[in-house]
Amino acid sequence: MAYVIALPCVDVTDRACVAECPMDCIYEGARSLYIHPGECMDCGGCEVVCPVGAVYYAEDLPSALQEYAPDNGRFFTEVLPGRDAPLGSPGGAAAVGPLNVDTPMIAALPPQSPPEQQRRREPRGGGSCCAGDRHD
Ligand code: F3S
Ligand code: F3S
Repeated sequence: MAYVIALPCVDVTDRACVAECPMDCIYEGARSLYIHPGECMDCGGCEVVCPVGAVYYAEDLPSALQEYAPDNGRFFTEVLPGRDAPLGSPGGAAAVGPLNVDTPMIAALPPQSPPEQQRRREPRGGGSCCAGDRHD
């Protein structure tokens, strides 16, 4: 299984992950981006740079976000609204460009505001200390 883009990306679409991906396998929908599960080589570069923590290794998805693993796949295997064939495996997102379409699951979500996204973000172990933070 590959890495997965989940709820915190929706209506944020920062795209920092796209520049990091050596496989060019992060495809842009209307309200979210989607990782191609067959093209991702699990380098993890996208997870590190996403400012809202939207990227997870599939096996590490919190229970509330489990559905995002199959849903990233659906972006490529199902015929999406307004298209006449599945996207399949294009072998590179840059050549495909932004697609003004989402999976039905993403399209049905209510608008997500960035502050709301931040509140939903679940901390992941460790509690790192950021340079520049004051602790006095
Ligand atoms: Fe989305 Fe984060 Fe990439 S917000 S577009 S997964 S950098
Ligand atoms: Fe690309 Fe992230 Fe996979 S950077 S190769 S989508 S782990």
